[in-house]
Amino acid sequence: MTEAFKAVPLADDVWWVGAIDWSLRDFHGYSTNRGTTYNAYLIVDEKITLIDTVKAPFVDEMLERIRSVVDPKTIDVVVSNHSEMDHSGGLPRTLEAVDPTGIFASAVGAKTLQKHFDLGREITGVKEGDVLHLGKRTLQFVETKMLHWPDSMFSMMMPDRLLFSQDAFGMHLASSERFADELDQAVLDEEASKYYANILLPLSPLVLKLLEKVKASGLEIATIAPDHGPVWRKDLDWIVTRYAKWAEQRPTMKAVVVFDTMWHSTEMLARAVGEGLAAGGARVKLIPLATRHRSDAITELLDAGALVVGSPTMNNQMFPTVADFLTYAKGLKPKNLIGAAFGSHGWSGEGAKHVRRELEEMKVELVGETLSCNYVPKDVDLAAARTLGETVAARLKEKCAG
Ligand code: FEO
Repeated sequence: MTEAFKAVPLADDVWWVGAIDWSLRDFHGYSTNRGTTYNAYLIVDEKITLIDTVKAPFVDEMLERIRSVVDPKTIDVVVSNHSEMDHSGGLPRTLEAVDPTGIFASAVGAKTLQKHFDLGREITGVKEGDVLHLGKRTLQFVETKMLHWPDSMFSMMMPDRLLFSQDAFGMHLASSERFADELDQAVLDEEASKYYANILLPLSPLVLKLLEKVKASGLEIATIAPDHGPVWRKDLDWIVTRYAKWAEQRPTMKAVVVFDTMWHSTEMLARAVGEGLAAGGARVKLIPLATRHRSDAITELLDAGALVVGSPTMNNQMFPTVADFLTYAKGLKPKNLIGAAFGSHGWSGEGAKHVRRELEEMKVELVGETLSCNYVPKDVDLAAARTLGETVAARLKEKCAG
């Protein structure tokens, strides 16, 4: 035991005992430029309870933080709110060290954990509304299927009104600060929006239902303790109102032009499209995929109303980075977008056509004809690209006014 890692108090008898991953730069395809945390929480009541665990390589750090408060062997209950490996990978070794009398997860979570690990132990499946008595406190379970996996659930600690929300309201941000109110708001905004865009965006209808359910319950949540990033203990509206806005995906006058280029022809067109969009009143972001990650592109799209995508043709296909972005974006299901396709080619010209097909599959409302120029854009091609941008901006303006 190094005694380097200590628990951090969150509230009376509640401790953060997670791990900080300063090195993580990729989270299943999402660029995590500021690392992340895997949050686990310890409740010291008559039944000492551990909420979630950490990614497998970080178990020793978590156990050491627990040991700074209690002997891990005194933990009675382990609750798994989410069985994805970043929270459950450390479970087998944790159970060896802890040997709890009860392990609780949602019914789906119990099955998923058994499929992940050969635990040789019973996991009790709980359902919406079930209550676990810890002593002075209770844990009330709330099913949050698909937020983020089918197994996901929240645990609400009463009477403290402390919500353990697993992935929801989290962000990938390694920091020495444990509370959101200790961190720079611009960093919080950047990382919370990136997390929502890359993890929760396709689940937006469920997010809206969940927010409505919480509102209807009349329960004033005092603290939100997610499984990644800082804990929210002040001004919870800051994050809740952002979730409502991101989940609604109302179109705005922001237009995102995503492209890659081989010999700068598609880039020249992208710049002309951007000029046309701006002339039509749009706020424009150009995203060159040669230097911007797919997860940054989708984050820009979170508060946008238009997506215009450009690709060269290479070997009768879209450029690989453009195909990568479109595949990623399709899975994240952004809604209420209008858009257009453009590109450049030498002889066969499939690039822009394939972009259009992908945008159609994403249910983007397409505006204007697909523009593809042969080899290097001439003045007439650049003028057409500008006109395409103006056409998209005009439709965007109508949609935002409607
Ligand atoms: Fe942080 Fe869905 O795992």
